[in-house]
Amino acid sequence: MTINVYLLLLLILSQVRYCLAATAEESSSSSSATCLPHSLRVPSTVIHRPHQLVIAHRGASYHLPEHTTAAYRLALELGADWIETDVVASSDGVLYCLHSVDLAVTSNVEEIFPDQIWYSPTFNRTGYWIFNFTADQIDKLTVQQRLSESRSTAFDRTMYIPRLEDALRVLKDWNIDDLLQRLPPHVEDNNTTTTSARKPSSIDLARSGMYLEFKDYILQKEEAGIDLVDLLYDHMEQYADLWKPLLEDQCYTVMRFDEYVVPGLVLQSFDVDALSRFHERWPLYFSDKMNESNSSLRIAPEPPHVLLLNYHGCTGELAEEFWFHIGDSWRSFLSGIGCDKQCLFDNDEFGHKAESFKLVLHPWTERPEQTFLVDPKRFPTVLEETRHLLCNVPAVHGIFSESVSIALAVAQLGCQDSELIGGKGDPMSDTTKESSTCYGSSQQSAIYTGLLSFALGTIMAVLISSCVHRRKMSRHYTDRTTLTSSDDEDCGNDAELT
Ligand SMILES: *[C@@H]1O[C@H](CO)[C@@H](O)[C@H](O)[C@H]1NC(C)=O
Ligand SMILES: *[C@@H]1O[C@H](CO)[C@@H](O)[C@H](O)[C@H]1NC(C)=O
Ligand SMILES: *[C@@H]1O[C@H](CO)[C@@H](O)[C@H](O)[C@H]1NC(C)=O
Ligand SMILES: *[C@@H]1O[C@H](CO)[C@@H](O)[C@H](O)[C@H]1NC(C)=O
Ligand SMILES: *[C@@H]1O[C@H](CO)[C@@H](O)[C@H](O)[C@H]1NC(C)=O
Ligand SMILES: *[C@@H]1O[C@H](CO)[C@@H](O)[C@H](O)[C@H]1NC(C)=O
Repeated sequence: MTINVYLLLLLILSQVRYCLAATAEESSSSSSATCLPHSLRVPSTVIHRPHQLVIAHRGASYHLPEHTTAAYRLALELGADWIETDVVASSDGVLYCLHSVDLAVTSNVEEIFPDQIWYSPTFNRTGYWIFNFTADQIDKLTVQQRLSESRSTAFDRTMYIPRLEDALRVLKDWNIDDLLQRLPPHVEDNNTTTTSARKPSSIDLARSGMYLEFKDYILQKEEAGIDLVDLLYDHMEQYADLWKPLLEDQCYTVMRFDEYVVPGLVLQSFDVDALSRFHERWPLYFSDKMNESNSSLRIAPEPPHVLLLNYHGCTGELAEEFWFHIGDSWRSFLSGIGCDKQCLFDNDEFGHKAESFKLVLHPWTERPEQTFLVDPKRFPTVLEETRHLLCNVPAVHGIFSESVSIALAVAQLGCQDSELIGGKGDPMSDTTKESSTCYGSSQQSAIYTGLLSFALGTIMAVLISSCVHRRKMSRHYTDRTTLTSSDDEDCGNDAELT
């Protein structure tokens, strides 16, 4: 009985919190042109977006051939926070979205240009290297499904390799044109009376960004003399109208969907040189731009950087070396680490280490097929594995996934109902689920009502005093494995990153 009352109180407590957050959100949404927290983690006061973020790996690549505009668009429609693009360059310096520098892996290059196979000293093998093809040639190629045994090949040969600007257009169409037409009129209106009439739904809030990887940076630089970072800066200038909404999204003037903004652009690479070079050029770039009175990009904050790491690099001596460099200098321009998910299965050490540096972890990659599971005995489906990473591993705030719908289902479920997927039949689960909206609580029986109002007063007092206390302590990270510690997160805005 005591336990039941305790659980009930916790339930009410969480509901009160949600309602408070909702009210705060509504009352503050009347102010326009505010600069919002810009971080790789969503504060838990934000109720409209799952706290853990979903990165669509190569687009919705489970459903459609990877790195196509259709795969990107589908990922956005399914609700991804970011679409992940890999960027490589043609011999004439045009940026393409493609995972492998060898065109033969996913395109029909062998059929169209059978003779253009050459030896690469870096790979020590022959291939159809993208830096041996011009943009005109690459535009003639079509792509096919990489994992054809388990995924649909119905769309093979129907789509082209997108240039970077094509991917940006998909985002712009979605973020600016399409979403605006779905939003209720009040979002642009500053009349507080009408603002509070309707809360935005999660579909209103589905504004997304690009998680861009500099692919094989060193290789293309050394073997072909191509610098992807320089090319990206040129691209940002040439296509300023497409970049502007992604780079300037920290300060909304028109669209304000939430108390939090997913950064419109996140940069990632396995080559730390690519990220540090981008970081070094950023202030120079903007000091030049500042001089132009009509510059479109001058107020943009620098995009967050995420360093990628494979399993080999997170074990043994290499791991020690890695953390040494992080502490020594890399932390100054990094916001997160994109590690192989396997780094997080043996123990929590990697997660704790990331937390101690206030770096978020975005592990890769969740795929629905059994063969990609790390430990099928412990986590026999992709749902359980994704849930483990998002809910149990310190510092994980987002996940690379090829099936956006599965990852989003897990992220939206939240970590508190942790028995739902396992189906272990926690009697509280259903109740918790039902009452997770502010307005769905009228079914509570009358017997509880008196008890509740008494409890509420007590809880509010405790809540407020503990919030005040914790703000003072300016804590930076939380253990998300227990209910009580997740309360902590709500006290402050954890916008300490970037
Ligand atoms: C390159 O590959 C060939 C054959 O696969 C192998 O014999 C050779 O040792 C390799 N060279 C280097 C430098 O790895
Ligand atoms: C909203 O507020 C701004 C000033 O803050 C004012 O110029 C504008 O007319 C207002 N719009 C409406 C629809 O009330
Ligand atoms: C705000 O909306 C209410 C109700 O729709 C209306 O009566 C009021 O005149 C509006 N105020 C302004 C300043 O537009
Ligand atoms: C392929 O590209 C590399 C790097 O630019 C270049 O060194 C090589 O000569 C090219 N091969 C051919 C056959 O064009
Ligand atoms: C921009 O202005 C600063 C001083 O205001 C000047 O030193 C710098 O050379 C200018 N840059 C360009 C590209 O004109
Ligand atoms: C505005 O920028 C364009 C290039 O983006 C430049 O050609 C033009 O001269 C600029 N106009 C003014 C008034 O500075």
